Amino acid sequence: NEIKLFCPATIANLSCGFDVLGLCLETAGDEMIVRKSTEKGVRIIKIDGAYLPLETEKNVAGVAALAMLEQIDSPFGFEIEIYKRIKAGSGIGSSAASSAGAVFGINELLGQPFTRKELVLFAMQGEKLASGNAHADNVAPALLGGFTLVRSSSPLDIVKIPSPTDLYATVVHPQIELKTSDARSVLKQTVSLKSAITQWGNVGGLVAGLYTQDYELIGRSLHDEIVEPLRSVLIPGFDLIKKSAYVNGALGSGISGSGPSIFALSKGLETANAVAKGMSKVYDEMNLPYEIHVSKV
Ligand code: HSE
Repeated sequence: NEIKLFCPATIANLSCGFDVLGLCLETAGDEMIVRKSTEKGVRIIKIDGAYLPLETEKNVAGVAALAMLEQIDSPFGFEIEIYKRIKAGSGIGSSAASSAGAVFGINELLGQPFTRKELVLFAMQGEKLASGNAHADNVAPALLGGFTLVRSSSPLDIVKIPSPTDLYATVVHPQIELKTSDARSVLKQTVSLKSAITQWGNVGGLVAGLYTQDYELIGRSLHDEIVEPLRSVLIPGFDLIKKSAYVNGALGSGISGSGPSIFALSKGLETANAVAKGMSKVYDEMNLPYEIHVSKV
């Protein structure tokens, strides 16, 4: 009658793939309990670790769950307990973890009437509440695992991409909050043809590198000349962190989602740990509090 879930953190964009690429972190995330209740509808009965609204219509998990329940006649209702470990406004998919967890849990308790790809559509409604934009690049990897490509969001077309066996992510979160809506407001609505060509060359390169386990190609493709220059000024120590990632052997590095977290991808756990150490040193020297994760992807 109840299910306990791990709701993973995710890295959206992956430099070149703004709003289309994302990946799931295996070891960083929230916990959630979803329980059947005789009272119909959805109630968020507990949120631990964050100050977030309990009202169903104002909570991303609640909104995602309601979007799902509009499509199916459930004989019972649901209660949700959320144990937040991912900070809001951190850039590693805090709202996506809650939205994805709620729809995944309810789907399990209902006997899996929806496919995971269908669940992405419902979870996107939570993202819309959080940021004003129903992007799928965090909820898709949270629900499908590994790397995902949102080839199209309307109609929704999601491609799951294999993870190279020896690829690890390091993510550092300087302890400031950056709202996705604010980080989107600094973006330009048009891009030059020259930048677009560079960007889609890199997206193709990154996807090809992931399929063929070509780590060098993955590294060469982790660039972003459209979004990163506009957003990186909002992130303390961005250039130093990025430089330290390269010095310590990362394949590439960039802003995680809308920031302020910064990610690096590395071949091998040892390198990913060395990258984490280098990043820690940068923020230690700046006297800036941070959290850091290393995770298989
Ligand atoms: N693709 C979104 C953005 C992700 O960068 O605004 C937000 O987590």
